[in-house]
Amino acid sequence: MNQTLAIIKPDAVSAGLIGKILSHLEDSGFIVEDIKMIHMDPHQAGKFYEIHKEQPFYDSLIKFMTSGPVVPISLKSNNAVSKLRQIIGATDPDEADEGTIRKLYAESKERNAIHASDSNSNATIEIAFFFPG
Ligand code: CMP
Repeated sequence: MNQTLAIIKPDAVSAGLIGKILSHLEDSGFIVEDIKMIHMDPHQAGKFYEIHKEQPFYDSLIKFMTSGPVVPISLKSNNAVSKLRQIIGATDPDEADEGTIRKLYAESKERNAIHASDSNSNATIEIAFFFPG
């Protein structure tokens, strides 16, 4: 068993999709280890997405991620990082496989319903970011 971090993003929270997405995660075999709802400020969101600072979509991404509350979730399963990335689907919902969370619920490449850690080392960093200690 290992860990990964998901974030239900503001588009999905405001669309009332927290329950459906949590069910999808639990039905896929993930154990919820920790969960909360927070409204990030631009400083927090900027720090979380620092790796994308030079990207043309960065300012818009920060505006979106601070537009409403988000739900970070620490998750546990076998092969947690790769399994979560598989069930959420591609960044762009138009390219995501049928049945994935983004195919089912995402609006666009930016407003794409859910974030998932992309490596074990980033999972550790991202879980500590939202759930220190
Ligand atoms: P996420 O998995 O949280 O990682 C970075 C986020 O930036 C991504 O999901 C999208 O919300 C957003 N993003 C990535 N690429 C683009 C893009 N080309 N245009 C707009 N937003 C993007």
